[in-house]
Amino acid sequence: MRGRQSVFLIMEKMWAGRFEKALDKKADDFNSSLRFDCRMYAQDIKGSIAHATMLAKQGILSNADKELIIDGLAGILEDIDSGKLTFDTEAEDIHMFVEAELTKRIGDAGKRLHTARSRNDQVALDIRLYLRDKAAEVVALIKELVLAVTNQAEKNADVIAPGYTHLQRAQPISFGHHLMAYSMMLLRDIGRIEDAVKRMNFSPLGSCALAGTTYPTNRMFVAEQLGFDGITRNSIDGVSDRDFCLELMSAFSILMTHLSRFSEEIILWSSWEFKFIDLDDSYTTGSSIMPQKKNPDMAELVRGKTGRVFGDLMGLLTTLKGLPLAYNKDMQEDKEAVFDALDTVVMCLEVFTPMIATMQVNGDVTYRAAQKGFINATDLADYLTKKGMPFRAAYKIVGTIVGECIKKDCVLDEYPLEAYKAHSELFAEDLYTEIALETCVNKRNSAGGASAKSVLEQVAYVRENLGE
Ligand code: ARG
Repeated sequence: MRGRQSVFLIMEKMWAGRFEKALDKKADDFNSSLRFDCRMYAQDIKGSIAHATMLAKQGILSNADKELIIDGLAGILEDIDSGKLTFDTEAEDIHMFVEAELTKRIGDAGKRLHTARSRNDQVALDIRLYLRDKAAEVVALIKELVLAVTNQAEKNADVIAPGYTHLQRAQPISFGHHLMAYSMMLLRDIGRIEDAVKRMNFSPLGSCALAGTTYPTNRMFVAEQLGFDGITRNSIDGVSDRDFCLELMSAFSILMTHLSRFSEEIILWSSWEFKFIDLDDSYTTGSSIMPQKKNPDMAELVRGKTGRVFGDLMGLLTTLKGLPLAYNKDMQEDKEAVFDALDTVVMCLEVFTPMIATMQVNGDVTYRAAQKGFINATDLADYLTKKGMPFRAAYKIVGTIVGECIKKDCVLDEYPLEAYKAHSELFAEDLYTEIALETCVNKRNSAGGASAKSVLEQVAYVRENLGE
């Protein structure tokens, strides 16, 4: 568009009174938030209905005007919902759009709606209402995922697999136990989001531009109508605060960290090197050149999109950092960040849950993997310790035996009893049952341990927690 003459807007702005010239077209586009804040139209209208009701109750607005306003707003809501009314791209934002449309429909009464209110408290209200609704949707999606993971864990409680530290085989576990770790993380994610909503749920409406108002408003009445737990207690804070966006995005970022770690494991587990799981065809893709490929794209994208959600959080943190009180236009940047984080989280959850629900665990493969890597070495040391040897001494002997096994290319279960006895007289025939994988896993019955029994207890705990 370089070189083109700037076009001046003909449409009169609501604030046109003070100005001699119209806003430059590019500046107008730059300034406008309608293309992204239009998604809050229902919340904007709901807030305006509560505001008009309060104004009439307090004698600031006539009942006749209130009726006109409420009917007009209800009509606008219906028409936007049905697609009859589309957003006028020339409006500066959703608040201006709704007010202009209302005035077009009902005349002067529409011009009275903005009494004792500013777009500053209006936008703060709308985002809170919008995010409150959307947070509940995200929580519902996470619950579905927790249940899918938990169902898989229950199904695979008896599947023995290697547990890892440093991505080295460490100790044998129930595969369900590994999965339940994710259920626990996701439960905390739900808690974090619900917690953020608790702090978010206070109405800023009535803070006005920044300093409250001289009208005898009733903020508590508005708050109650809109289902808030109370009102914000300082009008400057009411319009300047975006903590609730940051908190929600932090909770989303932690959630994405969990999904990303899980994705990484799904990617590893579905590789030929592991083959612990098979993903359903409907959640994998092929290659345009390599006919044999079955790629875990969904998990990779979730892992990738995690960076994007972190970016949204970092972006808004940076926008808010150093902003003086009260409202500054910089704050309009809050919405694209928080909406993008929200949309991304929703998209990821919607694909991740069925991917988990449909994956197949290859129990024979995980079992074979658990047979290698001396993952019962701790149990062999515990065997000696339970017979009276100090743990450190037992640890050293088992380390030496592992070294000998590596040289002989055998595992602990194949090492002969006489050879064991050469290291300690405490070794006896029963050592073999004690270090069998099934024993190692199923004796790990300490609270929260890796046994199948513990997995089933965890499954019951999670289901109860979710009210299932
Ligand atoms: N579109 C604006 C935003 O999203 C609404 C608030 C505008 N307030 C103002 N004083 N210009 O932040």
